[in-house]
Amino acid sequence: MKMEIKNCGFLIRGEKYCLHILYYQDNIIRFAYTKGDETPCSTVAVVTNPVEGSYHFKNGQFHLGRFRVEVNEETLAVNIYDCNGDKLSEDFSIHPEQPQIKKKLLWEKGIYGNGEKYRWLNHLGTATVNFNSDVLFHHPIHHPQVFEMHTSIPFYIGLAPDRTYGLFFDNSYKTEFDFGKTEPELVSLKASGGNLDYYFFYGATIADIVSAYSQLTGKPPMPDIRYLGFQQSRYSYQDQDELLSVAENLRRYEIPCDILYLDIHYMDQYKVFTISNERFADFKSVIGKLKEMGFAVVVIINPGVKAEESYTVYEEGLEKDYFIKMPDGNLYAGEVWPKPAVFPDFLRAEVREWWGKFHQELLEAGVDGVWNDMNEPSNFSLPSGTLPDEAIHYNDYDEKLTHAEAHNVYGLFQTMATREGLNKFDSSKRHFVLTRAAFAGSQRYAALWTGDNSSVWEHLESSIPMIINLGLSGYPFAGADVGGYRGDCSGELLIRWTQLGAFIPFFRNHSEIGTAHQEPWHYSESALRIIREYIRLRYRFLTYLYNLIRNSALTGVPAVRPLFYHYQEDQETYNINDQFLMGEGLMVCPVTRPGVEHRMVYLPEGDWYNFWNNQQYTGSRYMVAEAPLKELPLFVKAGTILPLNEVGRNSVDCMDGKLELRCYTGEKGFCRLFFDDGISNGYKNGNYSELEITLSTDLHKPKVSINVIKDNYPVPEIIYKIIGS
Ligand code: GLC
Repeated sequence: MKMEIKNCGFLIRGEKYCLHILYYQDNIIRFAYTKGDETPCSTVAVVTNPVEGSYHFKNGQFHLGRFRVEVNEETLAVNIYDCNGDKLSEDFSIHPEQPQIKKKLLWEKGIYGNGEKYRWLNHLGTATVNFNSDVLFHHPIHHPQVFEMHTSIPFYIGLAPDRTYGLFFDNSYKTEFDFGKTEPELVSLKASGGNLDYYFFYGATIADIVSAYSQLTGKPPMPDIRYLGFQQSRYSYQDQDELLSVAENLRRYEIPCDILYLDIHYMDQYKVFTISNERFADFKSVIGKLKEMGFAVVVIINPGVKAEESYTVYEEGLEKDYFIKMPDGNLYAGEVWPKPAVFPDFLRAEVREWWGKFHQELLEAGVDGVWNDMNEPSNFSLPSGTLPDEAIHYNDYDEKLTHAEAHNVYGLFQTMATREGLNKFDSSKRHFVLTRAAFAGSQRYAALWTGDNSSVWEHLESSIPMIINLGLSGYPFAGADVGGYRGDCSGELLIRWTQLGAFIPFFRNHSEIGTAHQEPWHYSESALRIIREYIRLRYRFLTYLYNLIRNSALTGVPAVRPLFYHYQEDQETYNINDQFLMGEGLMVCPVTRPGVEHRMVYLPEGDWYNFWNNQQYTGSRYMVAEAPLKELPLFVKAGTILPLNEVGRNSVDCMDGKLELRCYTGEKGFCRLFFDDGISNGYKNGNYSELEITLSTDLHKPKVSINVIKDNYPVPEIIYKIIGS
């Protein structure tokens, strides 16, 4: 075998291609096929480099960390084993020139991840296209010609009770994944350009894989706690009076809320970084007033720039040559909300910096966060719904890239520009950026919402596996439009969707122009009462969620988890789409159909409590749970220590109130709680407190003890409640 040690791994020369096998950490290695022996490049998704580590070549095999690899000298196909000799992966065929690879399905009982998909949780037997698309109708059709969703995360996880692996195909072109749909024994991965280049992760548990993947592609930033509160939006609040009246109604009806959104009508003729004088004549003072009422305001900023003489963003971008052009050197003009529209080339740092600066005025006016939409990028003037494949981008090395290569990362680069711009303006705050289009790694820059769903039960239901799979793909801070975006939402649907949304990290009610108003007070008295109760319940769980999301920022681990995340040995959990765990101890069982007052619930092994009445159940069984309209079935695992906040008008009020610690006895329990101001970056300088709380196992004499790890921020008054003794 023509092999040499190079670049923290091996370079193997085949007839037409070279294969690089590189070491990243004990459970991450990379397989990159290149034409010559040049060092392979990675996309913007990857934040780490290969390192020197434990790798050697022995008896014709490559040993890297916990892997052993056999390479076919002729084809450069590989077999991957763990260090015990168990086969993890076997190539069936490889075509680096296409590029395409087919791998055998070996022992996988489920395939998960792959980001935002309109699919059931388990992808086995399905095929999909990863190509960021402005899809107005989410639908579950499995056909490569059907563009799927706004986001592409070409990463998946193979799962079995005793082992698991992950594979990240690091290619920004359109990719097609077939998980045993066309050929039942095979997984096929194919890209429309670029290199065959993938990372392979291995671990005993799915948590190992998610953290390894997050290690490679980055973790989300620590969020401002207010963005874990309830958020109210509409396309659009048409003018300042309407916006103020929404704020007043939220307070009048005692619906806690932190964030209000301004959709495209706040701008002057959809020109980004302008404000309509007609509709928002007193923009700054209105935002100031909302602040006094305890709200923060997020504004939408899309990539499409109106091509109009004497409009600064356009004129400056033109002069500096910052917009995307066609190969003949002409500017590409398409159409989004503004028309004609041109598109900044965010792949260049100088363009991002220029774009970032425009945010300053908005922040000075009191705007708090930025919502990046239409950044697939969407373009109404072509049937493809986006820019032409052959349009030209330049990267920081002045290399030309076609749009076909840049397409899936365009949204990522826009959010990078936004976040960098906001940080430059004020580095003391944790800025909030929301995006619709994303690629692997986008989690470092923006929270994500799943775009234009509809007010139908099917979309409530499908949002559950979609958000769980996003979490398994390194994207924990995500959510769907509560109540549905398109079409009119009924009172019952809004109740059920709010019950679900209350346990999803990004919790925003949003609806389309021309649909029935979707704010809670547009429904019956009784519907309003239940919706309000669940928004308040969300705030009761604020400290719990904040700590989970902090953990996501530290390790990449999602807050919303499939049951098999903690019960991997139990295959009964592999296809449960309509239940999830928030953290380890809280089982959320949303109702996904109208008129339903009971639902089936699966409780994995161990002892469980009904959250509402503390009734106890032994797990490893299915049961029928009561689910009248006013009740979302919730179960808590014995041993859980649940912090519950006192509810105020927003999250800052909640943090000032008392904290109830509900200790569910029967199992040993442990939790760590972090307290800080929730908004500033003061925690980076040590301005926080941290407690470790332990619950003893003795059912008759349960004991709770607290260990103060750090005491640098006021901790709320704590009230203990022992459950089950
Ligand atoms: C897109 C967004 C939607 C927004 C609308 C108007 O359809 O997905 O959320 O309200 O554009 O800006």
